[in-house]
Amino acid sequence: MREYRIAAIPGDGIGKEVIPAGLTVLQRLARLTNEFRLDVTTFDWGSDFYRSTGALMPQDGLHTLQPFDAIYFGAVGDPGVPDHVTLWGLRLKICQGFDQYANVRPTRVLPGLKSPLADCPPGTLDWVIVRENSEGEYAGQGGRSHRGHPEEVATEVSIFTRAGVTRIMRFAFALARSRPRKKLTVITKSNAQRHGMVMWDEIAAEVAKDFPDVAVDKELVDAATVRMVNRPGSLDTIVATNLHADILSDLAAALAGSIGIAPTGNVNPERRHPSMFEPIHGSAFDIMGKGLANPIGTFWSAVMMLEHLGEADAARRLMSAIERVTAAGTTLTRDLGGSAGTAQVTEAVCDALT
Ligand code: NAI
Ligand code: MG
Repeated sequence: MREYRIAAIPGDGIGKEVIPAGLTVLQRLARLTNEFRLDVTTFDWGSDFYRSTGALMPQDGLHTLQPFDAIYFGAVGDPGVPDHVTLWGLRLKICQGFDQYANVRPTRVLPGLKSPLADCPPGTLDWVIVRENSEGEYAGQGGRSHRGHPEEVATEVSIFTRAGVTRIMRFAFALARSRPRKKLTVITKSNAQRHGMVMWDEIAAEVAKDFPDVAVDKELVDAATVRMVNRPGSLDTIVATNLHADILSDLAAALAGSIGIAPTGNVNPERRHPSMFEPIHGSAFDIMGKGLANPIGTFWSAVMMLEHLGEADAARRLMSAIERVTAAGTTLTRDLGGSAGTAQVTEAVCDALT
């Protein structure tokens, strides 16, 4: 029997609702397949931990997580703690500390769900966004001087390194090659951002030479939003910087039906450290504690985690259970136009596994 050690970090808000739901589904799946076991350890890190200890995770938190095979993460963010404190104190600490430089975000319109786009027949919107996850606009470089004075100045410096851009391009080209259409769109802003983004374009063109079978094109990030809305079928695999992809992937999730269904993997491709899988949504203050959160993004993230662990059959089985539930349309949360709660969707997916 294969065994995997999973670190579960529900975090804050609806993270505490969707991660237990995801673990329920995963354990049911493991029992049914009877081929692997999941040894799950749950960590109570997040804003409550911060209120009692002064930090979102213990000082040696990364050391604690290192031996795990994967991390299953909910969301972090609390109405009483500034967002930059929560984000940098937990999620980014793990992403950067474990060099999870490839953030992979698949988006498609699941069976039975409807895109808000008027013209989007099934199969048209099927994208994977690859987000650079270690540097760029979120490198954390910058500072503030003369705080509170009229002459106050703040800088937020984007960092692009040849090594960082090259590795994310190689990852994105390889992913594009593995998909049927073998098509990659490089998102840029090299008209206005004339240093980092010009190097980004140059490196994309260099890496493209090693992937002659991948069709590649280039789109400015602002034009990309228009193309996503007007010509969704013209896109397949997309690579973008940390900030650009952050924004485009929220739009992508909305175009696929709801932010509540979208999954992501923060991947350390060399597998020197555990990778982390999470829904792309946040802690959703407006619905937390009510049992209304859509757990599908968390379930789909579990599919990505299983793929990463090498459990391809189990991953497919879970994905088709999710799709059976969306296709039936009878057990959907409010964000998808239904009236079910987290628990009912979880039960429906568990039933669909059998
Ligand atoms: P959000 O994703 O938490 O919520 C945006 C909207 O989508 C809300 O109306 C919410 O109710 C809805 N929504 C989100 N997930 C849903 C789900 N599973 N089911 C049904 N509806 C859902 O984004 P927001 O409001 O900008 O941020 C709230 C907090 O979360 C902030 O503190 C923010 O910093 C944090 N955040 C954390 C992230 C993470 O940990 N990865 C990602 C995004 C935001
Ligand atoms: Mg975001």
